[in-house]
Amino acid sequence: DASDIEKGTYPHYMLKEIDEQPLVVRKIIQEYQNENNELHIDADILGAMDEADRIYIVACGTSYHAGLVGKQFIETWAKVPVEVHVASEFSYNMPLLSEKPLFIFISQSGETADSRAVLVQIKELGYKALTITNVPGSTLSRESDYTLLLHAGPEIAVASTKAYTAQLAVLSILAAVTAKTRGIELEFDLVQELAIVANTMEVLCDDKEEMESIALQFLATTRNAFFIGRSVDYYVGLEGALKLKEISYIQAEGFAGGELKHGTIALIENNTPIIALATQEHVNLSIRGNVKEVVARGANPCIISMKGLETEEDRYVIPKVHETLSPLAAVIPLQLISYYAALHRDCDVDKPRNLAKSVTVE
Ligand code: G6P
Repeated sequence: DASDIEKGTYPHYMLKEIDEQPLVVRKIIQEYQNENNELHIDADILGAMDEADRIYIVACGTSYHAGLVGKQFIETWAKVPVEVHVASEFSYNMPLLSEKPLFIFISQSGETADSRAVLVQIKELGYKALTITNVPGSTLSRESDYTLLLHAGPEIAVASTKAYTAQLAVLSILAAVTAKTRGIELEFDLVQELAIVANTMEVLCDDKEEMESIALQFLATTRNAFFIGRSVDYYVGLEGALKLKEISYIQAEGFAGGELKHGTIALIENNTPIIALATQEHVNLSIRGNVKEVVARGANPCIISMKGLETEEDRYVIPKVHETLSPLAAVIPLQLISYYAALHRDCDVDKPRNLAKSVTVE
């Protein structure tokens, strides 16, 4: 049938969509460049970003995890304070808003009911909204004041992969161009750094055999797994854990490296897999300290680090990319490891039980 043709030679949409990520990032660079090859965002969106005294990012699931990384981009580069909220909580537990809030909705489908409920609420209060979505003309896009498109192409697999990295790429561009509008000089060229990210993504996608062997080594029979990281690695770990839960049904949780000892470490047993991310120089020593704590309790550590920070104990080393952009690269091994874990556990990768691609009920 038609869906088989679209999948091409791939056994699953998820694997195809993982592989498309380098192309998607390159496409986004193109789409957001003007004729002088400078990054470009519509002036009215930049005006709204510049006017805001605080940005409220609202999203669900994987898009929420993208929002957490997006906060880092916007606060680090554009110096605007950002809060990130899960849509379903926000609607009845609205935080005290700042004087001039701007809302950013992140939604692959643009149809998620929980996010739309918040959009309706804040429009009634008279606030402005920007939607970042993969689907032009979607409900969230139509009902928002502004839209930024992901240009990721249709995402069919229920577990989101390329939409997540596309969200990060677009958020990074929004953050960098907003910084420029606000007179903040960044010490790097984002176009160049995103191009390096795209090349690195390609290298990672070509390393499938290694990802499969990691999945077999750590996740073939386990009941549970933990993802730890500090700073943005923590946010990537949350997404890695969600991917693993969604498609392999392994109970997986992401934790901030330093928070583990305040309770969760009680769950560590002999051979419990701990996937630790170490891509951030300023927390490299402390996350490795956290790994030692769990190893002392019998855990089976799988350290994924970044070139320049690696040690002999690491299971996988990601080629170097700009440190703030590392989530775009670091998520790929986690997506692939989840994919192979699910495959070897005979799970329905593209259509996991109980899940829907787009959830249109609150
Ligand atoms: C569903 C999907 C998730 C997705 C979430 C938000 O639960 O299964 O993969 O992250 O909705 O979807 P959205 O389209 O708003 O990004």
